[in-house]
Amino acid sequence: MSASERRQSVRTGVVWAAVQELLAGTDAAPARIVDIGGGTGGFAVPLAQLGHRVEVIDPSPDALAALDRRARESDVADRVTGQQGDLSDLGTLVEADAVDLVLCHGVLDVVDEPTDALASIASVLRPGGHLSLLVAQRHAAVVARAMAGHFQAARDLLDDPRASARGGQRFTADELAPMLDGAGLSTVSVHGVRVFADLVPGSLLELEPGATAALVELETAVSTRPEYLPLATQLHVLARR
Ligand SMILES: C[S@@+](CC[C@H](N)C(=O)[O-])C[C@H]1O[C@@H](n2cnc3c(N)ncnc32)[C@H](O)[C@@H]1O
Repeated sequence: MSASERRQSVRTGVVWAAVQELLAGTDAAPARIVDIGGGTGGFAVPLAQLGHRVEVIDPSPDALAALDRRARESDVADRVTGQQGDLSDLGTLVEADAVDLVLCHGVLDVVDEPTDALASIASVLRPGGHLSLLVAQRHAAVVARAMAGHFQAARDLLDDPRASARGGQRFTADELAPMLDGAGLSTVSVHGVRVFADLVPGSLLELEPGATAALVELETAVSTRPEYLPLATQLHVLARR
């Protein structure tokens, strides 16, 4: 495994396990999945390899070209489609009440109106369908800024979810719950993602045999413990319509 593959497995292990478990327990086989902001297919292609049909919607033509290449190289081009589009247009790109699972990973953070975005995601889900939502978490970002010596930036972010150099928004679990509720989605589970992964030096994973697997196991173990949730770089929420 290359260094970047090791890092990737630590970063996505918890999310991937939760999504796989969800799909294994649903009656839709194969499932119809929409990956909004799915980028180059980091989730779409492995999900297609499990037999599901995945529609990636992303505004970036470069990402969609990479997705297309990746899907062909993995022999799943017949189960993966790419479409240029924006989360704010989801309701016009996908019919209502039709989708088994929507992935929205790393995208709610960058839209202007997250509440409207959740409502349009809910509208394309079939009753009983699920949302897999991955967002940046504010508490951990405050800690990270303070530890890097950026005390004013940490102070700004403490009370302002949009106080970020890159303009994205960060959420807390307490803020997400009523937003999901308001969109008609009930929370099934909340996992903390990357509790330790971003703190561990990459060289440690390269030098210590078995360190990557042990770290993935540790991330999995802490992901459901509420006391570690505020330390997680990201929050992964599964919600049901
Ligand atoms: C941080 S990447 C995440 C990619 C992928 N979902 C993942 O988890 O690996 C954000 C992706 O969202 C896309 N994006 C940015 N703004 C968007 C919007 N308004 N609607 C849909 N996708 C958007 C970007 O092009 C990019 O591919």
